[in-house]
Amino acid sequence: MLNQIKISNKIDSFDKTIEVSSDKSLSIRAVLLASQAIGVSTISNILESEDVLSAIKSLKKLGIQCKKIGNQYKILGYGLSGFDIKKRTTIYAGNSGTFARLILGLLVRIKKTVKLTGDKSLSKRDFSRIAEPLKMFGANIKSKKNSLPVEILGSEFLRPIDYEETKGSAQCKSAVMLAALNTPGLTKIKAVKSRDHTERMFKHLELPIKIKSKKKYDLIEVEGLKQFDAFDYIVPGDISSSAFFIVLTVLSKNSKIKIKNVNVNKSRLGIIIILKKMNCKISLKNKKIYKGEETADIIVESSKNIRGINCPASLNSSAIDEFLVIFLVAAKANGISNFQNLGELNKKESPRLNIAVSFLKMLGIKVDRKKSNIKIYGNPHLKISKTLHIKNYLKDHRVFMMSCIAALSFTEGGEVIIEDKDSINTSFPSFLKMLKKLGAKII
Ligand code: S3P
Repeated sequence: MLNQIKISNKIDSFDKTIEVSSDKSLSIRAVLLASQAIGVSTISNILESEDVLSAIKSLKKLGIQCKKIGNQYKILGYGLSGFDIKKRTTIYAGNSGTFARLILGLLVRIKKTVKLTGDKSLSKRDFSRIAEPLKMFGANIKSKKNSLPVEILGSEFLRPIDYEETKGSAQCKSAVMLAALNTPGLTKIKAVKSRDHTERMFKHLELPIKIKSKKKYDLIEVEGLKQFDAFDYIVPGDISSSAFFIVLTVLSKNSKIKIKNVNVNKSRLGIIIILKKMNCKISLKNKKIYKGEETADIIVESSKNIRGINCPASLNSSAIDEFLVIFLVAAKANGISNFQNLGELNKKESPRLNIAVSFLKMLGIKVDRKKSNIKIYGNPHLKISKTLHIKNYLKDHRVFMMSCIAALSFTEGGEVIIEDKDSINTSFPSFLKMLKKLGAKII
């Protein structure tokens, strides 16, 4: 069967209430922490995408019992470092950078070698950013060329570390926090601000964590080896999956959408702040706090006079997974948009900054790039009036979904063929079905 889709028209106006798939970062953190708790944790509404299923399958290989009953996963943990590994074991992280990086933090005290592998895209990504701090704790880590496969052999002689996270990477910060949890003594982390789900879960589970929040960075202290009890968690919707529907609505005529029960943690809100600065109509209603995380319904309307933006680099980390679709809004804006310091975008499932620049140019948009800064010259009359064929060589789920949103927002006279529809299984398996429910014609 062909793994491509074709879109020949933009979407007609819509007015709908939807629920997007559950949050990937929270699903992965919830199962990982459940594996370290004592007793049976119940995690409901888990994102059942390939990334999260790779995490669950790997935990099972490490001796953790996980059972699905109805809409709930029951995970039986034996406490910190409570994996049951008889011999050298290989686990496969698939496409998931988050799982691959965080699980290494949990293996620092396991005295059997675990080999971590991943798919083609994950095998191109940097693991020295995790290996370096974990070696400082005392774990033995081997890899060729700083990428997967990685072999980790933990140690019982671990020491706490002082670590400075300078990239704004929540994966690095979280891997160190999970290693700190399994290490005696006080680990101190100075981290450029990034999504803080791990900190919030630690606090919710009453783990010994102290956080001092400064303007540009956080000072985090974790005291290790405190056992904790099993817990219940219901995963809310993912703002990164919502982003595709937010942008589709902003760019479509006479349309409105309500996206229910989405995690709107401040450290993930970059897309909302950026699009509001661009004059898009977005509001958050029905705000609630759930286990230390904020949730809300996101309401979006079509936006007519979109403005260009000088996007402050301080928002980069809070919108890191959303820039591909934010650039589509900049492409349709009145005026020029500037984005700076986006080098980390090239470290994702595919080199997204390079891909975005070629994609926008293919749409006929002028883009100036200097290193990791880009200037997008918006065109409010942007249309796709010829045939475009989007090949996605590392099968990046977000490149596929962004291409669908571009096609459904701009096609007038042309048609867009997009390869690798299976890539959505990484984070948002129901994406195409949901677009069709809004009225999108996708063949
Ligand atoms: C994630 C952190 C981000 C993000 C990724 C999920 C997480 O990566 O891009 O999709 O759950 O911690 P970095 O920490 O590498 O920026």
